[in-house]
Formats: sequence, C-alpha cells, structure tokens
Amino acid sequence: MKHNDIISKMTIEEKAAFLNGKGEWQTWDFERLGIPSIFCSDGPHGIRKQAGAGDHLGLNESLPATCFPTAATIANSWDEELGQTIGETLGEEAMAEGVNVLLGPGLNIKRSPLCGRNFEYFSEDPYLAGKMAASYVRGIQSQGVYACPKHFAVNSQELRRMAMNAVLDERTLREIYLTGFEIAVKEGNAKTIMSAYNEVNGTYANENKHLLTDILRKDWGFDGIVITDWGASNDHALGVAAGSNLEMPNPGLDSARELIAAVESGKISMDDVDARVDELLDAVLTLSENAKGKKDGFDKNAHHQIARRAAAESAILLKNEDSILPLKPGAKVAVIGDFAFVPRYQGAGSSLVNPTKVETISEMIGNYDLQVVGMSRGYSRNGKEDAETKKEALDLAAKADVILFFFGLNEDSESEGMDRTHMRIPQNQINLLQELGQVNANLIGVISAGSAIEMPWHHYFKALLSCYLNGQAGAGATLDILTGSVNPSGKLSESMVRRLEDTPAYRYYPSQQRNSEYRESLYVGYRYYDTANVPVLYPFGFGLSYTSFEYSDIKVDEDGVSFAIKNTGNLDGAEIAQMYVSLPGAKVFRPEKELKGFAKVFLKAGESKTVRIAFDDKTFRYWNVKTNTWEVEAGAYSIMIGSSSKDIRLTGSISKAETTKELPYEKDKLPSYYAGKIENISDAEFEVLLGRPIPDGSWSGKLSRNDALCQMYYAKSGLARFAYKRLTAIKKKADEKGTPDLNTLFVYNMPFRAMAKMTNGAVSMEMVDGIVKLVNGSFFGGLGTIIGGYFRNSKKNKAYEGKIK
Ligand code: BGC
Repeated sequence: MKHNDIISKMTIEEKAAFLNGKGEWQTWDFERLGIPSIFCSDGPHGIRKQAGAGDHLGLNESLPATCFPTAATIANSWDEELGQTIGETLGEEAMAEGVNVLLGPGLNIKRSPLCGRNFEYFSEDPYLAGKMAASYVRGIQSQGVYACPKHFAVNSQELRRMAMNAVLDERTLREIYLTGFEIAVKEGNAKTIMSAYNEVNGTYANENKHLLTDILRKDWGFDGIVITDWGASNDHALGVAAGSNLEMPNPGLDSARELIAAVESGKISMDDVDARVDELLDAVLTLSENAKGKKDGFDKNAHHQIARRAAAESAILLKNEDSILPLKPGAKVAVIGDFAFVPRYQGAGSSLVNPTKVETISEMIGNYDLQVVGMSRGYSRNGKEDAETKKEALDLAAKADVILFFFGLNEDSESEGMDRTHMRIPQNQINLLQELGQVNANLIGVISAGSAIEMPWHHYFKALLSCYLNGQAGAGATLDILTGSVNPSGKLSESMVRRLEDTPAYRYYPSQQRNSEYRESLYVGYRYYDTANVPVLYPFGFGLSYTSFEYSDIKVDEDGVSFAIKNTGNLDGAEIAQMYVSLPGAKVFRPEKELKGFAKVFLKAGESKTVRIAFDDKTFRYWNVKTNTWEVEAGAYSIMIGSSSKDIRLTGSISKAETTKELPYEKDKLPSYYAGKIENISDAEFEVLLGRPIPDGSWSGKLSRNDALCQMYYAKSGLARFAYKRLTAIKKKADEKGTPDLNTLFVYNMPFRAMAKMTNGAVSMEMVDGIVKLVNGSFFGGLGTIIGGYFRNSKKNKAYEGKIK
C-alpha cells in the first residue's frame, strides 16, 4: 500500500466514513490525519458548481460557467483534438471553481434513440465514443482535475434507471458496452470512473466484481477510484469488496456502520477496506496537491470562442439541394421559429449549466451580410397551435427569397430521468412547416435536438443543418455556416432512421419489468441497419460539405491503411474519413461492418493529402465466449474507407491467421444472430446466446427496498397508493410546465433505499425497511420500525460522530 503511514493511524470508524461522501459533493476530511476533502461537480458540458449549499437536484443555482455543446453534439465533429481542447477548458474552469473531480464525460451507448440521456452520450458506436471520451479525459486531467467517465456500465435506459437489471451476453458486454470505457481508461488514463445505477446481469454495477475488479482494474490496469453514481450504492460493503471506493452522495454514517459490521462479521475483509482507502487517499492527496496555488477565474470570452468553434465543427449539413447554402451575400431572408429567439442549446438534468452568456440567432443575425425581411416565432413552444403567430410567419415567408426555419425538440422532449416514447418533433412545428412550404420553396431548416428524430418532413427543405444542442455560442456558429464563413464538416455519430419501428431494440426497449434484455446483442445502430439491410434516412458517419472530396490509392499493410484524399471543390474544408472492417463469410457471427478507425483531414481547395489510419488491438478482435478472451478469426478481412458507413469509397484487404481453433457458437442454434435479423429473438435463442436461462425479471408484487417509488402504484397500503397519486400529480404538473423537473423525475424513479442513501444520515436503512413494511400494508409494524429506527439512528450517529471528531 502506498499510504500505509496514514492508514496505520486510521481507526475503523475513520476508514469506513472516508469511503462515503460527506455532504452532496465532498469527501470526508480528517484534520488529525492531514486528510483534506475533495470536491466533485457535474458536468460534462460545463461546470455545475452550486453557489450555495449543494443539493443533487440543482435547487440552488450554479456558478456561471461556459456551456459547451453536449457530448452528442461534439461527437459529430469526430475531432479528438477538439475534444481535448474542450476538456482542457473544462478542467481549467473546474480548477478555478475549486472542483477536483469533474463528473463526466458520459459515454453510454445509444442502444435506442429513445434514451432520455442520449444528448449527453457520444455515439451508438463504442470506438467513436471511446476515442472522444478519452480526448476529454486527457484534456480535463491535464489541468490537475480528475475526469470521471460515466456510467459504468450498460446504463442505456432512464426509465427506472435505479431499479433495472441489464441482461446481456458477455460478448455484447465487452464489444459494445465496455469498449468505449476501455479506451477512456487505457488511452485517456482516466483516474476515476462512475459506477452506474443499474444491475448488470443480476449484480449492481457498484457491487459487480466482474466489472470493477476483473475487467476495470485487472484487464485494463485502472489504478484510480470508483465513485458511485449519486444514490447508486445498494450495499457499500459489497461495493468495497468488488472494487468500489467512494459511495456518493451523502449516506450519512449508517452506511459506514454497515461497512464496519460487514468487516466484523467477516462478510468482507479488512484488506479490502484498506485497499480502497489507500486508492482513495492517493486521489485525495494528489488532487489537493494539484489545487495548491490554483488560479481563480478564467477568461470567459476566450472560452466562449472555444465553445463557438466546437459548435461550428459539430454541425452536420444533411441536405443542400441546388447548393442553396451558403447563403449569397445580401440574401433576403425571413427568420422563423421560436428557437431563433429562445435557443435550445443544452440538455436537462444533472448536466444543466448556468452559462456565462447565451447567443441567439435573433440578436446575432444583424452582424451578417443578409437582408432580414423580418423575424417571427412562428409556433409556440408549448405545442399548441397559435394562429396569429403562424399568420405572421407565413406573411414574412412570402416576402423573402429564403426562409430560415429554426425548429426541433422542445425542452420537455428529452431529459435525464425519463425516456422518450417517440421520435417526433411537435406537430405544431410540422404544421407550420407544411404551410411555409406552400408559400416559399426555398426553405432551409436548422434543427436543435439532442437525439435522433424522425424526419418524414425532410423533403420540404432544400437544405437541412442539424445542430444538435450546440452550447452557449451556438447561434454565431450556426450563422457562420449558413453564410459560408465556416464550411460544415460534422458527420453523424448516430444513424437517423426513417421510423422508430426500424430500430433494433424496438421490441425490447425500455424494459417492461425489472430486466432489460439486450436481445439485439451486437446489432446496435448501423451494425444492425447494414447487416439486416434496413434503409435509414441519413446513415451513421454521413454529413455534407460545401466542397467535395475524392478518395484514391488505397494501400493496406500489416500495420494499417493509407490512401489519398483530394479536395476537388473551390472551398477549403475538412473531411472525416472512416475505416470500417468486415469479414465476409465469417464463422463467428458479426455485423456486416464495424468502425475501427477514423481521421479528420483539413484540406485547402485543390489540396491532396495522404492519410494513414493505423490498426490497433481492436481492429480484428472479437470476444470469444468459449476461450473467454479476445480472439481473431482467420480470413481475408475487407478494409473499407468510407465517407460514411453507407458511402464506401475504397476497399482493400488483409488476411489474418486465427488465434484459436475453438469456435464459440454452433451456427444452427443462433440463426437469427447469424442473419442479423434480431427484431424478434425467441427465448430459446436468447438463452443460447446468454449461455444460461433468462433470469426471471417479473416483479413479485411485494415492494422491496430496491423498488422504485413509482411502483407504489401497486402498493397494498392505501396511504402509499395515495402517495403515488400525489407524486404522479406533481410530475404531471411539472411536465405541463414544459421544462423537465429533475427533482420530481428523480424521486419518481428512485428506489426506497435512496431515502437512506441521500439524506445525510437523517434516514437509516432500518427506517427505510419500516417505510417498505408500511407500503406493503403493515401500517403499525412499519410505523413502529420507522419511529424506533429514528431514535436508534440519531443515537448511533451521535456516538459515531464522537469517534471521528
Ligand atoms: C447522474 C450523474 C450525475 C450525478 C450527480 C446522477 O443522478 O446520473 O450523471 O453525475 O447525478 O449530479
């Protein structure tokens, strides 16, 4: 152990308390031992450090910070250098605000476009997600602050996110859901990681030895600390034994008492506790040392400019008929759409930033060489029809040469704490769009949406620019692209499907009861669409430019592939070349092609460059469930270089020898997986893939500590059912406001145990058990336990506090 000198002086009470949070964002400090406290803060797109007392749910406003485009947006830049610059800027602001651990980036896989948090995750592809996350991590950590990639792992659903079990086979786990984290840890050298809320194959992520010790620490060589998601700890003693260090946010001393009891009963060993304390001490001491002599404040304008560059590099031009864009100087335009006045530039939930300033199209457009005939909000953000505003917009549309229509998903469409139920934009926006199309065909659409949407209306537009959620400087960046001072270069980091029903997890997502069964296996996003020949509207990796590129001269050797790209147009621009690998006639089922590398190349008009993409340890590997390790299948692999997943420009080939003769599957037992037709996997076939029976995820009807509060709908106790009704009414009221209320969503989905885990010692687990008894119909028994538990808890807390003063 590195810090034996300190650990040998610590009492068991100090050690146990140290492994829990103290307050909403801090760790425990012990003056006697010279151990300071460190401070954690969200978030991935800007610092969310609260000015007053900390509360998880953001009741107190946070200090102003630069609001960058969200991860889903930046992923469209495919630019690791940009990711690193954003990371450095986030790290600098974190340091200036006294934040030691920045809780991000988030890199869960976009299993379904419906996940409410997709706006803050990078991609449907683990390679791209991992590379982008690693670049953020490198940037953040270069400033002496630790990054915390999250949520480890298989946390791709918000519904009942704290009471959900992800059931999946080991190969899917490794290849799809862990590879991004592997890259963030190995290449980014992440020093902390956040364990997810959910269970993975029946064990909470935070207690999952397979994830936290076997894979994270042993396979990947992670030497940092595991921090639980806020309220994600179920039994921290088991967490500690599994490799988790810090239970957050503030479980009070009840959790510490449980830890001590676990050591005393032999449930876990003192060695485990010491190992976790040692790792945490190392982080705390290093981080406090790093923060000595820190700079207060940061250059707000310079950071705003970085946010602007980030937004410009991440916008995707989806369509540009008749080269209507860029706009000609002096073009007569009408600006229509509420988003031009009140931009939607960030998501909702724990990543909500209090921006240093926010640009809007309506204020910025005057700075450009355009003749603005007028501006109208056009539609109302509450989804209701507004005849007067609509008429105003239509009148304007008739006067202009070109209409700039700003639209997309409203604030209440996507949020942490809830999943979407459809992929549509509000109907009142579509209605206006249809009428605008009748008045003026020169329609240019600018979309703000944090996740994929259905676009059955896309033919109305001559040009479409997808900006995702592009941060506080998004308006200027958008206008730069529309007017041509910036040439768009973003490409989709997720597929834009024609309709929700086409998505691979359509029948499996979200989970109905406790288990979320990942029956679609490896076939996520383009891996599925390309294998099963499902047409999409705009494919993964797609994006247009104002110039054009030509690919030639592919050469494949043992270490990688080289080729040439030429800018054949009249404008300077950047192209994102993608390397996909495929094994025709593979004996082990696999997607038709998979992304294994990419390069973003800046080229002046007419310029040509040779591009090199190196192979790495992930290029040819697959996880073999028989040998239980990464293997390579023998065969002639196609190395495809594409401008998108659907636009392959060059193909080369390389042969590889096999690393094992042991094949993991019997082909005839997995026909759907071999065909990629995974829409309706039978129980029997899923069991073959899993290699074990499907666990029973059906809910017994009797509520437990780990059931979500929203399940009180089924409670035996009338009082609990009344509480459920109240909660639902509060949620409904909050929903109607148009902006998601994280407080309510959190409480609605949280399990009973979170009452003890997040109340700073006010509620003990014994009291939670009393509440559960009450909910299950034992009113007096439950009440007795709550009251008795309250007094016992207060007494024990006092005694404990005395020991660690
Ligand atoms: C979220 C995390 C976040 C944490 C702290 C949780 O509810 O899942 O992403 O970092 O809260 O705000």
